[in-house]
Amino acid sequence: MISDVSSDFVRGSHPYLLSPLRVGPMELRNRIVLPAMDQNVCDDGLVTDAVVDHYARRAEGGAGLLVLETSAVAFPHGATARHQPALSHDGVIPGLTRLADAVHAHGARMVVQANHHGRISGVDTAEDRPSLVPSLPLPDSDPMSIMVDTTMDELMAMATLTGGKMPTYAEATVDDLAWVVEQFADAAARVQAAGMDGIEVHAGHGYLIDTFLSPAWNRRTDAYGGDEEGRARLLVEVVEAVRTRCGPDFAVLVRLNGRDAALPGGITPDLAARYAARAVAAGADAIHVSAYSSITGGAGFTEGPLPWRECQYEEMTRTVKAAVDVPVIAVGRIRPDEGERILADGGADLIAMGRQLLADPDLPNRLAEGRPDLVRPCINCFVCVAQNFWSAAPVCAVNARLGRPDQPEPVPVGDPGHPAGHIVVVGGGPGGLEAARVAAGRGHRVTVLEKADHLGGTARFSSLTTPMNGELVRWLSTAATEAGVEVRTGTAATPELVASLAPTTVVVATGAVRTRPDVPGAELPHVLSGDDLRGLLTGEDLGDRRPGPLVRLALAAGRNLGITADLGRVRTLSRRWMPIGRRVVVVGGGLVGTELAEFLAERGRTVTVLEDGTHLAVEMAHPRRWRALHEARAHGVDFRTEARLVAVTPTEVVAEVPDADGGDGARTEVRLPADDVLLAGGVGPDRSLAEAIGRALGPDVPVHVVGDAGEVGYIEGAIRSGHEVGCRV
Ligand SMILES: Cc1cc2nc3c(=O)[nH]c(=O)nc-3n(C[C@H](O)[C@H](O)[C@H](O)COP(=O)(O)O)c2cc1C
Ligand code: SF4
Repeated sequence: MISDVSSDFVRGSHPYLLSPLRVGPMELRNRIVLPAMDQNVCDDGLVTDAVVDHYARRAEGGAGLLVLETSAVAFPHGATARHQPALSHDGVIPGLTRLADAVHAHGARMVVQANHHGRISGVDTAEDRPSLVPSLPLPDSDPMSIMVDTTMDELMAMATLTGGKMPTYAEATVDDLAWVVEQFADAAARVQAAGMDGIEVHAGHGYLIDTFLSPAWNRRTDAYGGDEEGRARLLVEVVEAVRTRCGPDFAVLVRLNGRDAALPGGITPDLAARYAARAVAAGADAIHVSAYSSITGGAGFTEGPLPWRECQYEEMTRTVKAAVDVPVIAVGRIRPDEGERILADGGADLIAMGRQLLADPDLPNRLAEGRPDLVRPCINCFVCVAQNFWSAAPVCAVNARLGRPDQPEPVPVGDPGHPAGHIVVVGGGPGGLEAARVAAGRGHRVTVLEKADHLGGTARFSSLTTPMNGELVRWLSTAATEAGVEVRTGTAATPELVASLAPTTVVVATGAVRTRPDVPGAELPHVLSGDDLRGLLTGEDLGDRRPGPLVRLALAAGRNLGITADLGRVRTLSRRWMPIGRRVVVVGGGLVGTELAEFLAERGRTVTVLEDGTHLAVEMAHPRRWRALHEARAHGVDFRTEARLVAVTPTEVVAEVPDADGGDGARTEVRLPADDVLLAGGVGPDRSLAEAIGRALGPDVPVHVVGDAGEVGYIEGAIRSGHEVGCRV
């Protein structure tokens, strides 16, 4: 039984994940896999220092197996980008050797994801070559769907990948396919010569082999189509050719889609299982089950390949696992506890964690130390993968170092030029806590002053709608405490208080200021700012502005029982009751407004969102935006763009919106019934406290401003600026 764990290996907090496993010729120290994720930092296909550093860091963090990002076997033919690794000539071998050596030095194994990108070969389009596909015409699709909810800047950036050109396609001939098979075998031989442990044949995600496997894309009647055996032929020939060329001591993994449900006749889990069995019969050592949505526009992208729900591909992976007798790799937003569960009950043999290992490369080592609480959580924000759409290096909202060679190093204090000091951080949100934990980790004495009873600032509140933000706050708090930070909650910082602590440096991270729109009725009691709403739902002190003594009573009771301090419970209980009327108008269709709208609509409210810009949720990375807007609309939220708030009355919101016929910029006044109005816009930086502290302390004590107080950048901006200041002080 592949999933059995010998008691010899039970250690750390997650014994199944941490137990070793043999995959073909490879002995893996544990079952944690870094799946292929483009870094886009090669130089015309050649491995650079940045590539080596990235993967060596993940190997050092303890992962058992690393998969190098998708690499073009026939580069530049069938390549997506000039920045991806090439496998097409012997000149790539020295770079790959350096990479293999660096990873092996840390005890991990490494395979290279080998690919021909077929219809998604941006370099072919840029260089006026048609992209290879199994059949023409292509299946019906809606090429405009990607335009919806995507800004012009993003579309322009995406267009740079193909030099602004539109793709053309050619039906692959039998000779083309023989050439493709040969390219895979040659590429594998180079990977082997470089000292890598194997390759992962990419047979998913809409690339060439996948389109041959898919009955929707492959309508050929020759030997490479017609029936299941014909459609599997290209994959089988590639696996056999690699196995023949490289022999038994070279691992051959296959990644395929457990499902492609976007097209009628697409791959189903049962079909994927049969393809997996054919790949194993051809010589594959392991199967990696991902998923895809052929029509990638909008929300389809988060069906596959980038899932948004936890364990999104679990069931289809189990179907594949039941059909093969080699190890199966599960992927798809699997966090350690869930990975442990899946391994323990035999649902898979290895767990790939993609974004989670971008967010924290040290995850395996933390589990081995028995400290899962110190794993920095990925918050599922899609910031990293958004960069892929224009072939840039991924950056991470919670890991400021990913993809940012310009970030300063956290040099220990005591080194030349870095005397130890007392850093006072005002504000315990993500920016303040990141600055505090980094500074304390370097050896400074650090004190955090937080006005509220809880750390986390607006990020904590936003966990009502986005629970992972709460996980991040929990991690930041734990990591700060672990680093020795002294935290004083319930302490409002005044310039006098800060001065009394005799800081050597002050970091102000007090968050943004929110202004009310200057329209009649904006001060009515049912017009709630984000702060008011926070108070309503969490029972924080509301001052005089709250309606209804019964509501106050209920909130006070909740506060006394401790219910409202636990936002997870508030989230659950608010499905049954919350002090918000049936009809809600949200003013501002940015990140906050969109998340709130979905939260309220899910709880039975009729929600209209008024956004004065042309696009919604532009602060979200576009894949997340596509999903969030899809979900909100599915819950019935009515989004109105280019809508100007005119007035609020006790029962209505008055707005100006573009005419329904859209002619001549003409506008119409609409009156929307509203029991409550939520203000989700008008957010701006606020340096006032920093300036007052600066005046009180004088020029000898530097005052830094991080997070939204300096520039509104939400969690990503707060972590980045907090990290930078934490390294510099
Ligand atoms: C930045 C980024 C780049 C990716 N590039 C690739 C790739 O080159 N090849 C591939 O098969 N999948 C790629 N993926 C998909 C991942 O391998 C993985 O299947 C996906 O992120 C789901 O796993 P996760 O939820 O643990 O992140 C990429 C994902 C991300 C986030
Ligand atoms: S950018 Fe967001 S989704 Fe990507 S790894 Fe970081 S936290 Fe996770």
